[in-house]
Amino acid sequence: MATIFITRKIHPLGIEKLEASGHEVFFSEKEGNLTKEEFLVELQKRAYDAVLCFIPDRIDASVFDAAPSVKIFANYAVGFDNIDVAEAKRRGVIVTNTPDVLTNTVAEHTFALLLALAHRIVEADAFTRAGKYTGWVPELFLGNDMTGKTLGILGAGRIGTRVAYHGQRSFDMRVLYYDVKRNEHIEKETGAEFRESVEDVLKESDFVSVHVPLLESTRHLINKERLAIMKPSSYLVNTSRGPVVDEVALVEALQKKVIKGAALDVFEKEPALAPGLAELSNVIITPHIASATEETRFKMGELAADNLLAVLGGGEPLTPIRA
Ligand code: GLV
Repeated sequence: MATIFITRKIHPLGIEKLEASGHEVFFSEKEGNLTKEEFLVELQKRAYDAVLCFIPDRIDASVFDAAPSVKIFANYAVGFDNIDVAEAKRRGVIVTNTPDVLTNTVAEHTFALLLALAHRIVEADAFTRAGKYTGWVPELFLGNDMTGKTLGILGAGRIGTRVAYHGQRSFDMRVLYYDVKRNEHIEKETGAEFRESVEDVLKESDFVSVHVPLLESTRHLINKERLAIMKPSSYLVNTSRGPVVDEVALVEALQKKVIKGAALDVFEKEPALAPGLAELSNVIITPHIASATEETRFKMGELAADNLLAVLGGGEPLTPIRA
């Protein structure tokens, strides 16, 4: 029997199988995320064999030092910028993530944001609730069509490809994409055209959606200079990681109408928002919920649990992250 630590209390959401497997499962008793100090204290309470962790948990050398018996950290997320994967590899610790199971859901949320921006849904909802709708007016909340427009995808991985697919199939959009390498799959599935640079995508797109992982090379991928290249009529959506967009530069660009609008599900200094962001009417912000549907959260829990069980059973993890 192994001992497993889960860094926050969550509803079963797919992980009931951990207890059913006969392993001993311990949760943090705290409501909310553990601070690093609290996390280290928790890890030292027992000789844990495995940890199920979440995006706010920073898994670095101090954590590996505090938990030398842990064989696997199963991240309940597809992104893994919260984990020092190279250090884990050096120490022979396995790290896993939850790819694939959330691709469709994140793509749906991205499209929900794109459509909400283009059709000004959030502003119009607030207006109507406030009792300000006093009669039909032709110019009330004029938005923009997505149909037939150009969709720029930065990062043509699983999620970027799925967003491109929806744009092309449902809205006849012309899709442009940039990635560090060409991706035949997105081209075949969506007719997407490869561009040699981020700039080449930005200058032609009406809607830009960001789907890159957070790496040193993608930090501030969208910065002041690149925002200035975008069309003044364009919209930006980020459902990847906050630091990929220079949020202060974005606020300034939105205030000065350098671009028309933006929607963010992730923030540079999450959960804090850049000053001025929440005051802008041409912005939609959601609290990092792009994969938060009942179905997908369940599947993420299941996959994280299956990874733990496979490794604890002496097998190979299902979705390992390789440094
Ligand atoms: C969510 O942001 C994830 O990486 O799964």
